[in-house]
Amino acid sequence: MCGIVAYVGHRQAYQVIINGLKRLEYRGYDSAGIALLNGGLNVYKKKGKVADLEASLKNEGHLNSHIGIGHTRWATHGEPNDTNAHPHYSANKNMAIIHNGIIENYASLKQDLISKGHTFQSETDSEVFIHLIEHIKDYEKCSLDEAVRLAMTQVVGAYAIVVISKEDSTQLVAARKGSPLVVGVGEGEYFLASDATPIVEYTKKVVYLNDHEVVVIRGGELHIRTVEDLPITPYIQTLDMELTQIEKGGYKHFMLKEIFEQPKSLRDSMRGRINADKNHLVLGGLIEYQQRLMNAQRIVIVGCGTSWHAGLVAEYLFEEFARIPVEVEYASEFRYRNPVINENDIVIAISQSGETADTLAAIELAKSKGAIIFGVCNVVGSSIPRATHSGAYIHAGPEIGVASTKAFTGQVTVLAMMALIIGRAKGTITESKFQEMITELSSIPDKVEHILKTTDEQVRYIAEEFKDAKNFLYLGRGYNFPVALEGALKLKEISYIHAEGYPAAEMKHGPIALIDEQMPVVFIAPKDSSYEKIVSNIQEIKARKGRIIAVVTEGDTEISRLSEFTINVPQIHEAFSPILTVVPLQLLSYHVAVSLGKDVDQPRNLAKAVTVE
Ligand code: G6P
Repeated sequence: MCGIVAYVGHRQAYQVIINGLKRLEYRGYDSAGIALLNGGLNVYKKKGKVADLEASLKNEGHLNSHIGIGHTRWATHGEPNDTNAHPHYSANKNMAIIHNGIIENYASLKQDLISKGHTFQSETDSEVFIHLIEHIKDYEKCSLDEAVRLAMTQVVGAYAIVVISKEDSTQLVAARKGSPLVVGVGEGEYFLASDATPIVEYTKKVVYLNDHEVVVIRGGELHIRTVEDLPITPYIQTLDMELTQIEKGGYKHFMLKEIFEQPKSLRDSMRGRINADKNHLVLGGLIEYQQRLMNAQRIVIVGCGTSWHAGLVAEYLFEEFARIPVEVEYASEFRYRNPVINENDIVIAISQSGETADTLAAIELAKSKGAIIFGVCNVVGSSIPRATHSGAYIHAGPEIGVASTKAFTGQVTVLAMMALIIGRAKGTITESKFQEMITELSSIPDKVEHILKTTDEQVRYIAEEFKDAKNFLYLGRGYNFPVALEGALKLKEISYIHAEGYPAAEMKHGPIALIDEQMPVVFIAPKDSSYEKIVSNIQEIKARKGRIIAVVTEGDTEISRLSEFTINVPQIHEAFSPILTVVPLQLLSYHVAVSLGKDVDQPRNLAKAVTVE
């Protein structure tokens, strides 16, 4: 977590950095800070959001500078306050650092530095890093970049850092290991940031750094070296991102914009991959590994949060269409067991950000045991796609609201395509079934568009009705059990109302004890193979006076009679129904949170990219 941004060039660094920090705020918003070379090396920092920092500097007349660094924090070491906010000075205040990541051996490094006479202002691990750099620089009498490189050999943990120094007002030194860092290359100017969003309005030329690389920008030139001091030729890529994609575009919140973008994001995820008229479905990343996939003994899916829920849907998809046994694992659990994995296994890592620390660690572990790893990610150029053997992007475009929405539907779509491709190649689905399924998949964007048009107002009304509930239960079966989990997670994340998702039948083994006339129960109950069963479950809740909200297939009358509210979604093959049924649940959590006055895009304590374990 944490977002970092730095600038050197002909513009006013303050404005570039403040704008950049606002774009990176999804990565953490406990405090914000900036350091500028404006006469001296001055650090300005404040607990709270970037807007609070900006407000505190409204009457500060001396922010004129063409070089600076900035940070938005998700607290790990030390509570969120002004002192623990970044940037952190070195002891002599000639240098300052911004850091995203965690230094695992900071306590021993700190002890050592204290014994050498250093004193520390904050409780952070990051301050230790800059003191270490300072110590090496003084002791070895070397350049700043050499000191950073040597410090990297002593520091254990994950980091993306940028260091600014009084000694040269054209110089920024940055390094990465385990946390993302992108260099933006403009005309006589350079940007450094945790992702490309602070950069795209100035330049589309970027260099994604690899682990163990040190960047030196000095005198208008960019140099990259490895930690072993070998030169690297920067690989400049062109960003496939437009400024409009990272702005709210008239919507009140990013989350609402992203929910409403789903018809487009789903079309984008299928573009060039599916052509139902020609019975064509291809994912470029699968071609090379098709044989391995067909012969896989087992698929293990790893992910966290919403991505893990998409993995659960994929379990049903792969088992049904490709007849391969699937296990879905929380990446954080998988990595600390001693999992049985071998070269006949396929591991699929699902991640919107492509940066989740636990998922990355799970990948490394599975790789070390010889498995083939596929990534299903959204952020192009992020760490997970680079750590995997192959994969498929979901092409949902930047997702900025902390609660994931369009990424989930994109992930399920891509995983569905994978399952169909493997099933067809293995012969576990017939050609006519394959044709039927890709026709169904192609119809999804229009159906999602229809749901958004027809249900938003109704869901807003339902949200108003239930916003004061203390608990919610979400129940589904089969393909829609993971949707129950996802619906409950969405509500918890942004409205702070306790919610649980359960398999509808399992409700009898505990949660039914919670049912009374206060308890809203959301059923995800489209017309599918478990329809009759879920109708019985609805009866059981009704008999106990629970308040029933049901997501049903258009034309359903049976469940309407039993429920207080029904929300209609179009008919679709049940395997793809999660992509439709989740949409009203995203809207429900959004409208409940808005009516409770919650901070929808930046809910408390959460961050979008969890780059610490
Ligand atoms: C955080 C986010 C969730 C996300 C999860 C996994 O908790 O708030 O929205 O589902 O991380 O993130 P990933 O980027 O790996 O999908």
